[in-house]
Amino acid sequence: MVPLQLTLLAALLLGTHSAQAVQEPILFHVIQITSFVNESWAQHQGSGWLGDIQTHGWDNKSGTIVFLHPWSKGNFSNEELTDLELLFRVYLIGLTRESQEYASQLHFKYPFEVQVTAGCELHSSDVTKAFLQAAYQGSDFLSFQNLSWVPSPGSDSKAQSVCDLLNQYEAIKETVQRLITNTCPQFALGLFDAGKVDLQKQVRPEAWLSSGPSPGPGRLLLVCHVSGFYPKPVWVMWMQGEQEQPDTQRSDVLPHADGTWYLRVTLDVAAREAAGLSCRVRHSSLGGHDMVIYWGHHLSMYLILLAVIVPLILLIVIALWLKKRCSYEDIP
Ligand SMILES: *[C@@H]1O[C@H](CO)[C@@H](O)[C@H](O)[C@H]1NC(C)=O
Ligand SMILES: *[C@@H]1O[C@H](CO)[C@@H](O)[C@H](O)[C@H]1NC(C)=O
Repeated sequence: MVPLQLTLLAALLLGTHSAQAVQEPILFHVIQITSFVNESWAQHQGSGWLGDIQTHGWDNKSGTIVFLHPWSKGNFSNEELTDLELLFRVYLIGLTRESQEYASQLHFKYPFEVQVTAGCELHSSDVTKAFLQAAYQGSDFLSFQNLSWVPSPGSDSKAQSVCDLLNQYEAIKETVQRLITNTCPQFALGLFDAGKVDLQKQVRPEAWLSSGPSPGPGRLLLVCHVSGFYPKPVWVMWMQGEQEQPDTQRSDVLPHADGTWYLRVTLDVAAREAAGLSCRVRHSSLGGHDMVIYWGHHLSMYLILLAVIVPLILLIVIALWLKKRCSYEDIP
């Protein structure tokens, strides 16, 4: 009997453990944006991202990687990073030269913009997805799949021509494959380990209410601002008691410069129905205690003032009146 109980206990413990181990995938990717201004001028921007945190920049002048956090080198040695820098530099020079050479032949018209994103996504199940996608003038253009370049669905013959051209270079394809399927997962894991303290930080939101531009006569736009929180997932809802208000509108979650997030959540209501509404915020940093702010608390401040001032004025009036009466009675 005991062994069975032990097994059950172990299963239970292991079960809860594996439930805790279910994690968001680790995503690392680089973004490159190149503006081809004219026949002789191109400008590059580069960045590296671990999930939604920017970890790297690219210094165009020196052709070097900018490490934005103390842990941005992950577990790679300076030598390995210098090799990568050199590779990126050669790539950017090559891309610029080849694009300028083939621009007229492929009917690329200046100015044009190329955006590239490449990276890897590591799942806890040991599945790794690697990707490289490029856009031309803001639309999907081509991607790298199974060791070859393929035009994106819906792209025009330009994309096919560029893929035909690129597919002739075996060495480039092998390098790209190695970068996204080997180098990227190794770097991402090391980076994730090194940055754990920052990545797992919890920053509490601040929340406040205001009213937006009136949506119409007799109506109010209640605005709940939630600001300065980390990580990004957050639940915010306008409530009437325990009742969620389904007309609640949520903005995009916007970044602050310090890496925390901001969100505004609005509700369009009849002015007389606003009292008693509250904004409820649920976030991992709040440890299960929701933040609740009631609409009309600034209103009740006026009520408190009124409740203090009205009796005060009355008191003064009565005092003056009594004084007057007394002074009449004093007259013999
Ligand atoms: C290309 O654009 C740059 C930056 O705007 C400018 O300085 C340069 O004169 C241009 N060159 C030509 C050939 O138009
Ligand atoms: C960095 O860490 C990852 C994951 O632990 C590992 O696979 C990789 O080999 C390490 N790289 C170096 C250069 O130590």
